[in-house]
Amino acid sequence: MPEDDNCKWVSVLLAEELPVGQMIGVEIEGLRIAIFNVKGAFYATDNICTHAFAVLSDGWFEGNVIECPLHGGKFDVCSGRVLGEPPERDLRTYPTRLLGEEIQIALPSA
Ligand code: FES
Repeated sequence: MPEDDNCKWVSVLLAEELPVGQMIGVEIEGLRIAIFNVKGAFYATDNICTHAFAVLSDGWFEGNVIECPLHGGKFDVCSGRVLGEPPERDLRTYPTRLLGEEIQIALPSA
């Protein structure tokens, strides 16, 4: 999703609440989103696997890779791309930014 007038920025948590190598699942405006800290940079993706219904933040996160807890599918959290089957569809990603100490993500505006 491009960063333009068709999105709105929403604060989700403080940067200090998500140390390097950690992830957290949040629900914002009905969307289940996972936020990751990869070497000090923040990334956001859908938190539901594209293969079946599994919450990715219940899985394993290392480097820039999230492994699904249900069947072991793997995704690059920076790009959303599938790295390991069985999923075939990439994850949706959301732009992120820091505003002061707050991590913000861009959601599509209504
Ligand atoms: Fe995630 Fe199957 S539900 S790999």
